[in-house]
Amino acid sequence: MPAQTGETPITRNQTLLTWVEEMAALAKPDAIYWCDGSQEEYDRLCAEMVEAGTLMPLNQEKRPGCFLARSDPADVARVENRTFVCPADQADAGPNNNWADPTEMKATLRGLFDGAMQGRTMYVIPFSMGPLGSRIAHIGVQLTDSPYVVASMRTMTRMGRKALETLGDGDFVPCMHSLGAPLALGQADVPWPCNEQKYIVHFPEERAIWSFGSGYGGNALLGKKCFALRIASVMGRDEGWLAEHMLILGLEAPSGEKTYVAAAFPSACGKTNLAMLIPPAGYEGWKVHTVGDDIAWIKPGADGRLYAINPEAGYFGVVPGTSTKTNPNAMKMLERDTIFTNVALTDDGDVWWEGIDGDPPAHLIDWQGKDWTPECGRKAAHPNARFTCSTSRCPSIDPAWDDPDGVPIDAFIFGGRLSHTFPLVYESRDWAHGVYLAATMGSEATAAAADQAAIRRVPMAMLPFCGYNMADYWQHWLTLGGDLGNPPKIFRVNWFRKDDQGRFIWPGFGENMRVLEWIVDRVRGRADAASGPFGVMPRHGDLNWRGLDFSEAAFNEIMDIDREAALRETESQTELFESFKDKLPAALEDERQALAARLGDGEKIWRIAS
Ligand code: GTP
Ligand code: SPV
Ligand code: MN
Repeated sequence: MPAQTGETPITRNQTLLTWVEEMAALAKPDAIYWCDGSQEEYDRLCAEMVEAGTLMPLNQEKRPGCFLARSDPADVARVENRTFVCPADQADAGPNNNWADPTEMKATLRGLFDGAMQGRTMYVIPFSMGPLGSRIAHIGVQLTDSPYVVASMRTMTRMGRKALETLGDGDFVPCMHSLGAPLALGQADVPWPCNEQKYIVHFPEERAIWSFGSGYGGNALLGKKCFALRIASVMGRDEGWLAEHMLILGLEAPSGEKTYVAAAFPSACGKTNLAMLIPPAGYEGWKVHTVGDDIAWIKPGADGRLYAINPEAGYFGVVPGTSTKTNPNAMKMLERDTIFTNVALTDDGDVWWEGIDGDPPAHLIDWQGKDWTPECGRKAAHPNARFTCSTSRCPSIDPAWDDPDGVPIDAFIFGGRLSHTFPLVYESRDWAHGVYLAATMGSEATAAAADQAAIRRVPMAMLPFCGYNMADYWQHWLTLGGDLGNPPKIFRVNWFRKDDQGRFIWPGFGENMRVLEWIVDRVRGRADAASGPFGVMPRHGDLNWRGLDFSEAAFNEIMDIDREAALRETESQTELFESFKDKLPAALEDERQALAARLGDGEKIWRIAS
């Protein structure tokens, strides 16, 4: 056994101790270090990473406690084509996942991990997803040879000694991670070690995760997508709860009345923005409180309502596009104690990215460490540049964000990036219809041209994150809602409709508050609406326009439904549905046909009555 340093393992959890020993024997690190999760430990690791060139301290007067990390240019995002879900039966992975035989995959992984940590320290990271000891929370333990991952996990989860104590003799999700970059004796390290070969692998029956070759985000911070979505969705299927790619926010009216909603949007479609929304002019006295910005774990309570927690304790958020106009709360949050990954560096040691306030500086060092000028034609920050920052820094954090009981959810919202056809907001007629609206959600690739944009189906914003057959997941949703009796209402929204010139028609961001208010009023039985082919919709007069001049003509532009386009869209959903063959719940195909029938005849453009 290599020497053990750091926190002496105060655990007597034999399964954990044996697993750590076995994994160390396989990966052959020089040392094993048990993380305690303290500030002192975080500071020490950051100092070591500065020494190694992995982190660069930013100007400490402008950004106290902040660092810049530049990844390897070949390790900048999740790798969906290298992500595998490996149940014994391929049908359980479904057409939505890459599958490999679990025995063969284990053999491949053992080969890759053999000696993978040579010359490095193996860190043991006990962490809780969710408030320590909450009935909705679960414990994981990650082993990694990346100090960047350790520091990030400390920000993103409740990590260290307390998590280990909470674990006791209990079960944990084992998360094995290596950069796959062993160091021979005397070999110099690089700032961002990784391996050309990458494997992000899930064994749902074992509830185990193995990740090799990447140090970046969702590939490497295994509590996030791997555990809190792929493995947790399987746990939720087996135990009757939901693990979702959703933000959670609380809306507080001037009267003090508070309503919580959970909203699913695909990656880079505005979850962080909506979760931290600041109410616009006309909404004096209203508040939006942030519970989570990316993942929600939702369990039924004894009272028949659904209760949600944010399993994370930090944000790993998209940086480009963040400004005092789009997300003032985030700008405030990022002033200190943040690790920025793949943003640009200014000459005075501050950070810069596309979409930040003000004009581009005359000179920068870009995310790859190269000189950058406004004329050079390259992006200064990588489009997937991210910030890692604790929830405790969020100015709009909800007082109940850490409540072990979670917060009661009264509405689910689903939205993609759709430049045509789909209205600003509509409400499902009932639960099954809502599941259909969520299951058929699409989104355009962000770079796609406004007109020809291909719609990629992103059912429930979960396509890359559902750890089992998506048709079974839809059935799980249908069953769960049926069991609740009075399930939350389900809404679809679309902030992204464009005009002939390709400009967004809806002002979005803070103004999305108007849609949220209508949703809350619908939930509470106060708002009027009209029925349309897609569902129940507000008329112009049903929304609150105080403080915003948005004409009925503009409103019609984002609410009108072009019947032919909508029918084509409804028809194209068959491709998704057919890929699941006989596993597809009949209720969803029934909903699809009912929609086609409602769209069937009438004027070319369906317009809501005023
Ligand atoms: P992941 O962290 O990748 O899961 O994504 P996310 O959903 O948290 O993404 P994020 O909030 O970072 O998405 C930001 C993108 O959405 C930026 O391109 C924003 O400009 C855009 N966006 C957010 N809200 C709005 C809006 O109301 N209107 C418009 N037009 N764009 C918006
Ligand atoms: C996403 O891609 O949806 C993210 C970023 O939230 S990552 O954690 O890298 O998956
Ligand atoms: Mn996400």
